[in-house]
Amino acid sequence: MPGLLRHGRIEITGRLVDASNATLFGTVTLDGVEAQCVYKPVRGERPLWDFPDGTLAGREVSAFLVSEAAGFGVVPPTVLRDGPFGTGMVQVWVDTDDERELVDVCAPADVPEGWIGVLRARGDYGEPAVLAHADLPELQVMAAFDVVTNNADRKGGHVLAGTDGNVYGVDHGLCMHTDHKLRTVLWGWVGKRLPEPVLDKVERLRAALEADLCDALSDHITRRELRTLTRRVDRLLAEPCYPEPSGHGPAIPWPAF
Ligand SMILES: Nc1ncnc2c1ncn2[C@@H]1O[C@H](COP(=O)(O)OP(=O)(O)O)[C@@H](O)[C@H]1O
Ligand SMILES: [Mg+2]
Repeated sequence: MPGLLRHGRIEITGRLVDASNATLFGTVTLDGVEAQCVYKPVRGERPLWDFPDGTLAGREVSAFLVSEAAGFGVVPPTVLRDGPFGTGMVQVWVDTDDERELVDVCAPADVPEGWIGVLRARGDYGEPAVLAHADLPELQVMAAFDVVTNNADRKGGHVLAGTDGNVYGVDHGLCMHTDHKLRTVLWGWVGKRLPEPVLDKVERLRAALEADLCDALSDHITRRELRTLTRRVDRLLAEPCYPEPSGHGPAIPWPAF
């Protein structure tokens, strides 16, 4: 897959309409092998006042590199490369199982058994509603990944149940900031200790940062961002619990989907 994604010929077949930036959908082909992909050209990025450094595409690639180095397996394979509209990020498309919900907003009585409610709200007509998510090991991994990458955009729609049975996260353009910006719908384990397998992955990430991960990341994020990433990992290892919302700024991305 890495060769195909990095060197294959990209053909654009559509545009994701609910996307806020130029998020294109297409195929990538090499030696007769084809895969579906997302392509986000840097040129199509809307400038963001709160993320002035680097590019969204570079942050998405950083998120993938962190996910791989730790063994989180959260982010579908993602590369930075040339494409039909210039340099951009290219990511493997995840086929999703639309029957399998992982995050939802529903009436209190309809929260699926075993799920965790994270926010009580009111619907359009004032009816009570709950933002809730499944209580799964894969989502605990994703929540830890979001803490270390400082993900400011873990919406419900950025949590995908793959038809391969895995759980994937997408849209990591708003991570790695030096300020605390964790905004997520996955608040279900606040104060709880990271499960042992998740902690192992964070330790693996720390070791990778000591080895050559910093080098690879420095192509995509600033040195300050890199130092802050290391600090977040150290802090989580020193106190291996899911953190609370910081109290500064919104804790949940809006819209939540
Ligand atoms: N790699 C992917 N595989 C499957 N679906 C994806 C993938 N990337 C994005 N999507 C879908 O497309 C939507 C829009 O893409 P996203 O990356 O969120 O774009 P934007 O940065 O413009 O918000 C996502 O919410 C998700 O449903
Ligand atoms: Mg998005």
